[in-house]
Amino acid sequence: MIPRPATEADIQPICDLVNHFAEQNLMLQRTPEQVRMALGDFLVVGDQNQMVGDQNQMVGDQNQVLGCGYIAHLSATLAEIRSLAVHPDHQGEGLGGLVVDHLVEMARARGVQKICALTLAPDFFYRQGFHRVNRWSISPKIWGECVYCPKFHACDEIAVLKILDSGE
Ligand SMILES: CC(C)(COP(=O)(O)OP(=O)(O)OC[C@H]1O[C@@H](n2cnc3c(N)ncnc32)[C@H](O)[C@@H]1OP(=O)(O)O)[C@@H](O)C(=O)NCCC(=O)NCCS
Repeated sequence: MIPRPATEADIQPICDLVNHFAEQNLMLQRTPEQVRMALGDFLVVGDQNQMVGDQNQMVGDQNQVLGCGYIAHLSATLAEIRSLAVHPDHQGEGLGGLVVDHLVEMARARGVQKICALTLAPDFFYRQGFHRVNRWSISPKIWGECVYCPKFHACDEIAVLKILDSGE
């Protein structure tokens, strides 16, 4: 399975997947509007155009999303991986690693030099070539978002970083 760019029909399935884990405090909740705003930066794995609804009343087509993630550009050189999630029935099959690989390549193609994540699953990211860093080394993230977070002074997430280009 190869990650593909997300489409409108992926918006609700992405929210369902991400918010399933958000309810467990593993990641941040996303609204359909937030996903729509970031749609061009999202990749998903899964099938397209699966009809949803019961047999008598088809309510439209939605895609089946088994995994997703997107990159947010924090500065001209730094991007962040967000909303990385794999359906519970398909974890451990390599899909998370595949989504990260493709997000990294997408970032590299856009000229990004460093890609980071704030995560409760650092070991997963270490396997993808990221290393642990001090949170302040990704300061655009801290000043842009973390300072508004209620958990700012008691953050339990680990900052990880991957250098894509040594030209800086
Ligand atoms: C983290 C996550 C995206 C990994 O996706 P995945 O498809 O299961 O990962 P892969 O199959 O590509 O890689 C599996 C490897 O990562 C490790 N791994 C998976 N989830 C992990 C976690 N939460 N903590 C530490 N290691 C983890 C596995 O042990 C496995 O290692 P192995 O290959 O040595 O056995 C997925 O578990 C998930 O959606 N978790 C819930 C949401 C979440 O925590 N997202 C990350 C937010 S930054």
